[in-house]
Amino acid sequence: MKYTKDKKFIGKMFDEISPTYDKLNHLLSGYQDNRWRKMAVKHLAGLSSDNRKILDLASGSGDLGLEFLKLLQDELYSVDLSEEMLKINRSKIQFENNFVIKADAEGLPFKNNYFDVCGIGFGVRNFQNLETCIKEINRVLKPGGRFATIEMFKPHKKTFANNSFRMYFEKILPKIGNSIAGSTYAYDYLFQSVNSFLTVKQYTELLENCGFRVLKSHNNFLGIVHTVFAQKV
Ligand SMILES: C[S@@+](CC[C@H](N)C(=O)[O-])C[C@H]1O[C@@H](n2cnc3c(N)ncnc32)[C@H](O)[C@@H]1O
Repeated sequence: MKYTKDKKFIGKMFDEISPTYDKLNHLLSGYQDNRWRKMAVKHLAGLSSDNRKILDLASGSGDLGLEFLKLLQDELYSVDLSEEMLKINRSKIQFENNFVIKADAEGLPFKNNYFDVCGIGFGVRNFQNLETCIKEINRVLKPGGRFATIEMFKPHKKTFANNSFRMYFEKILPKIGNSIAGSTYAYDYLFQSVNSFLTVKQYTELLENCGFRVLKSHNNFLGIVHTVFAQKV
C-alpha cells in the first residue's frame, strides 16, 4: 500500500471499515479507548461550565459525541468526511440536537466564534492539511473555547515498552485488523499514519502557532496515546 492522506482515499477507507470500526477500536486498544474519551470530557468539564455548543470533529461513529452528551447544554455538531461513519453516528446518538454534518475539517461550515468546546478523537492524524484544520478549529471556537485532542502520536523517546508495542502495532495488529475489517490495507494505514505523524511536542507547538494556549498534555499510553487540552487565546 502506498501511504497517502488524500481526502478521497481517507473518506473511502473509513466508509469501508465503518461496520467493524467500533468493535476493532475497543479490541485493539484493550478496551481503553472509551476510558480515554471519558477522561478527556471529564477534564474539559472541570475547565469551564460553558458547554452550550460542542463540536465533535472527525466524529466518525460518535463515541466521543456520546460522552459529550454528559456535559452538553444545547447543541452537538458531529462532523466527518465519511457518510458511512456518520450513518452509525446518527443511529447511535439519537438526540434531537445532534446535528450530523458531512464536511471537511479544512473548511468548516460554521460562523466565527461559534463553539464553546471542540473535541477530536483519533482524527487529527488523518487530516491532509493539518495546519489549515487547526486554524479552522481556532476560527470557529469562541475566545477561551476549549479544544481537546486524543491522538496516537509518534513517541519522541524509544523505550523497551514502546518498541515492543511498535512491533505488535506494525506486524500483528494490521493482520488482525485487516482480517476482521475485511480490508487489505486499512490497518497497515493505521500503523503508517502514526509512524509518520508528529510527536506530541511538535503537535503542541503547532497549536501554539495557530492561536491556542496549551493547558495540559496527558500521557494515556506508553508516550503514544496522549490527550492534549488547549484553549483559544
Ligand atoms: C479514526 S476515526 C475517529 C472517529 C472518532 N472520532 C473516534 O473517536 O473513534 C477518524 C475519522 O476522521 C475522519 N476524517 C479524516 N479526515 C477528515 C477531514 N479532513 N474532515 C473531517 N473528517 C475527517 C474520517 O472520516 C474518520 O471517520
